[in-house]
Amino acid sequence: MTGQLTFIDLKPTSENFLDAVAAGLAATPKTLPAKFFYDQRGSKLFEDITNLEEYYQTRTEMALLKTIAPELKRLIPAGSKLVEFGSGSSEKIRVLIDQVGKFVTYIPIDISRDYLKMEAEALASDHPDLNIIAICADYTKPFEVPAGMTGGEDCTGFFPGSTIGNMTPGEAVNFLKIAGRLLGPGAGFIIGVDLKKDPAILYAAYNDAKGVTADFNLNILRRINNELRGDFDLESFRHRAFYNALAGRIEMHLISLADQTASVAGKQFSFLKGETIHTENSYKYNVGEFQALAKKAGLKPVKAWWDDAWLFSIHFLRVG
Ligand code: AVJ
Repeated sequence: MTGQLTFIDLKPTSENFLDAVAAGLAATPKTLPAKFFYDQRGSKLFEDITNLEEYYQTRTEMALLKTIAPELKRLIPAGSKLVEFGSGSSEKIRVLIDQVGKFVTYIPIDISRDYLKMEAEALASDHPDLNIIAICADYTKPFEVPAGMTGGEDCTGFFPGSTIGNMTPGEAVNFLKIAGRLLGPGAGFIIGVDLKKDPAILYAAYNDAKGVTADFNLNILRRINNELRGDFDLESFRHRAFYNALAGRIEMHLISLADQTASVAGKQFSFLKGETIHTENSYKYNVGEFQALAKKAGLKPVKAWWDDAWLFSIHFLRVG
């Protein structure tokens, strides 16, 4: 049998970069949405982050996925469809397809059309027997897929990388409800979640010695300069990341080193010395906390795994 590659474009209206930046910089306190980190340079910087000694997440999740592959194999019926929310993790997908090995169809859903196409084509050429249905859509909002495409016990969702940590707990519940509806009753759901841990380990992971995370954070200003006729002086903002224990999240900010004004597409924005732009939240959950959150979205915790150092967790949930 030979697999097929199908591309379905649901034409998501990607949030306008300029509108989001103008609104975020006019707000008090100032914010910028973390999803705009990932232009070409930002994606490369994130990849560099995943290879840093201090950034344990990616390698820990990969190793854990390989370790639990035999158990996942027992939880997933043969001939399943694998639905990935966001398609930035081809290495992890390859572990599932090669080592769990029960999937006949792979359905990546991503808002980034070109990236989605590229990844789907690369995977198709390595796995000629796999059916691939690439769907261009914004998975954080409800959307319709063609009838019969997903739905039920032969479906397995995959949301790795603790991407869910970028959402507030409320947004996460909302996302899990939408995803659960798409996957259908009885479907499995594999989710990678970064664990709460010694704040010193978290601090180091977001304040690496080489300053890659600082570059990644500052790159959003570079992007505004390049794409929105901005004139931010990158030298007069500094990266700041810290663990907010009360909220259970890492916060990244860009702190203004002086009283200054920057213009974006002809609009002026003033900054006081010490004022920050809040650029990212990265929520951390204990295993029990995440299970409680999943239950609120109608998902049943089946099993959870973590590494020996308690750095990262993978959950297997069942849609109720
Ligand atoms: C891709 C959202 C999981 O929160 O750790 C890495 C992004 N930000 N270093 C994370 C990120 C700073 C990352 N996630």
